[in-house]
Amino acid sequence: MNVEEIKQVVQVLAAAIKGLRLYAVDHPATVRQVEALQNGLFSLLQHKKQISMGLLEGTLFVEDHLFMQEFPAANELAKLLESRDLTGFEFLAGLSAKEIQTLLYLIHAGECKGQDFADALKSQGVKRIHAVAAEDEDEDDQKPRKVYRKALKVVDQIFQDVRMGEIPSSTEAIKVVKSMAQLTITEPHAMLALSMLKDYDNYTFTHSVNVSVISLAVGRACKVTDEQLKTLGLGGLLHDLGKLRIDIEIITKPGKLTDAEFEAIKAHPGFGADIIREMEDVTSEVMQIVLGHHLRYDRSGYPQDHTGAIVSPLVEMAAIADAYDAMTTLRSYQRPFTPRNAIARLREVSGSFLHPDFVTSFINSLGAYPVGSLVRLDNNMIALVTKVDPKDTNLIDLKVLFDPDGTLLADPYMIHFHPGQPLRIVSEVDPHSRGIDVTDFFDLDAL
Ligand SMILES: [Fe+2]
Repeated sequence: MNVEEIKQVVQVLAAAIKGLRLYAVDHPATVRQVEALQNGLFSLLQHKKQISMGLLEGTLFVEDHLFMQEFPAANELAKLLESRDLTGFEFLAGLSAKEIQTLLYLIHAGECKGQDFADALKSQGVKRIHAVAAEDEDEDDQKPRKVYRKALKVVDQIFQDVRMGEIPSSTEAIKVVKSMAQLTITEPHAMLALSMLKDYDNYTFTHSVNVSVISLAVGRACKVTDEQLKTLGLGGLLHDLGKLRIDIEIITKPGKLTDAEFEAIKAHPGFGADIIREMEDVTSEVMQIVLGHHLRYDRSGYPQDHTGAIVSPLVEMAAIADAYDAMTTLRSYQRPFTPRNAIARLREVSGSFLHPDFVTSFINSLGAYPVGSLVRLDNNMIALVTKVDPKDTNLIDLKVLFDPDGTLLADPYMIHFHPGQPLRIVSEVDPHSRGIDVTDFFDLDAL
């Protein structure tokens, strides 16, 4: 890559940012600078799909050129990135003048930093420039809620890349799965509680994160190795990637599909595997999960022409997670199963659709009343199961929501439940019969 061209782009970018102190975004002087910047980036992007600009230990680089020697524009950009808690930008082929303008405007406004800056860029419709937020070493970032949110963002980005016909990067996905795998061991109840949050407007990508979280719970229950756990989590995250290549009308169609539509849906594991094959650092076992997640234990299901290639036990674990999340999610044609009903359904299809031993291990790990169950106590109070002790599933934390006469409490309170105490759980209650959504009652700030 031509160093002079790189210097030119850095020069123009620094000048454009400075220029905004004097001129508005739509001033002819700014418009000229945006054009010059766009032309410079175009020529760099002629032979590449994307150009990275960023900081390496405080020094600016563009692709493989590090600005070691004094170059004032590079110093200015390095300082600017640092001040905005960013480590760089990625410019993608096809970027528009409008996207450059929005970037400049956001930099100039200086109102947001780090991940907020990256999010603002995205929310303003900029798809071909990504801002990379500096890693926040805050311990808080390893909290379940933050990790879950990060996973949603990672999947969102991967989906955007696939929609644009690009091969997504696996780096962030691998990183976030590692964090989720750790949390599945240290705080399994929190991760399962988070997986109950279903964002119906963004079903496919919420479902991807939830299947990843539940897959990790299944894997942990089946005592897989740490390495396998990460493979399983990544497979869960990417399992439905191929759906992005299927007509959205079919994917979101409420109610029963026609035979032709179902045939179209059946192509998604294969499409997903095609994308995975091109991604770096994604193992063939992850690919098996993607390709085989609709192949049942008895090898009915689809795609039939690949049954011989699917040999990893992790595929069977991901299939359990996929089934469990689908069952516990509200659809236009299905009220969500309560956790206990979902368990009963898993039992029904155990040995035919799903691996019997893995189903048993998973069910045992959830306990009689899994996290997210609404239960009636023998004094007629109704409470939400917020935590199940993984070592002894009889020890559970309950949040009492309704008093014995059926009144919804203004201030729900916690009780630690164990078999030795006088209260007993007598049954599960369907949240819909009480007109509530259990996820409203998880203390998300504590997760
Ligand atoms: Fe699927």
